[in-house]
Amino acid sequence: MRIGILTGGGDAPGLNAVIHAVAHALLQQDGIELLGIEDGFLGLIERRTRPLDWQAVSGIATLGGTVLGTSNQVSPVSYQGRDRRDDVLNYARAIGLDGVVAIGGDGTMFIADALNRHGLPMIGAPKTIDNDIAHVERSVGFDTAVATVTEAIDRIRSTAQSHSRVMLVETMGRNAGWLALEAGVAAGADIILLPEIEYELDAIAAACRACMARQRHAIVCVAEGAKPRGGQATVRTRIESSPDPIRLGGVAHVLTAQLTPLLAAEVRATILGHVQRGGAPTPGDRVLGAQLGVAAADLVRAGAWGNMVALEQGSLGHVALGEVSGRTRHVPADHPLIHAARRLGVSFGDA
Ligand code: F6P
Repeated sequence: MRIGILTGGGDAPGLNAVIHAVAHALLQQDGIELLGIEDGFLGLIERRTRPLDWQAVSGIATLGGTVLGTSNQVSPVSYQGRDRRDDVLNYARAIGLDGVVAIGGDGTMFIADALNRHGLPMIGAPKTIDNDIAHVERSVGFDTAVATVTEAIDRIRSTAQSHSRVMLVETMGRNAGWLALEAGVAAGADIILLPEIEYELDAIAAACRACMARQRHAIVCVAEGAKPRGGQATVRTRIESSPDPIRLGGVAHVLTAQLTPLLAAEVRATILGHVQRGGAPTPGDRVLGAQLGVAAADLVRAGAWGNMVALEQGSLGHVALGEVSGRTRHVPADHPLIHAARRLGVSFGDA
């Protein structure tokens, strides 16, 4: 058997741990050969693959990024105005590919499903620092991103205390606020703003004033997808060539400008950006990567094509690729961590 591995979409710490685990679990089996597909689905379109042997995956599990490279928003379903699925299928046949393990998020699973239906057998393994993939309660990359954001807020708190300032910290999290919620609670943020809970400016200002009166500083942890009641998320840029053109970012700056005239204290914003996706994976993400990678290899060995590895209620399983895309896993308003945070006195910017 000859199996391909690719990483698609934005990178996340722990991708290499998954590649390493898939490779180890499959290479142990006689007669299985692996090919690394370069730069995600772009590598299938541009016919760029390389052998993935024991040497190629040696020691990679601890590294950040992805040794295979990745591409965002590149899909053989429509690339530069043409459907490239037949080309991809012809290439896969020409190099004797029996199937592909695609490690990625929602978008990657959508493309994997389309290719699987078109005749190229696919298995999915979930990753994203946003932790918002349906049927996956903990995705690879999330644990590291939570640790990174927590450390950043810890650092921002000490300067906020020194200067008696209101400090806003903007995290990634386009549609779901898991990262802002967990890191915000871990770092003791006073106000946490999520895409799922629309905020009122007056409520945020009142919470800031209460914090200033009580402790002479305030920390606001805001997800990039947070939006005002009845309003829209802050768009940083549009990439017209992309099937998903909107890039969010900048809500912390918008809020800084809006809060400044309402507060006596100085207000400052920090946008953490891609630092959240970089660096070596935590032990937690390495272990999760190993488990998901082995589970993906098991699906390959079982011939269970067309499925993604799932993680629900602590158990590994699988779910059809078609069940994943377009079903963002949002933070429910009654999530226990939201209850706990409210009991701790955290404001979510709602009335
Ligand atoms: O989906 C993961 C994510 O990190 C989002 O939280 C963020 O909006 C997006 O990727 C940023 O993507 P890019 O690297 O293309 O700007």
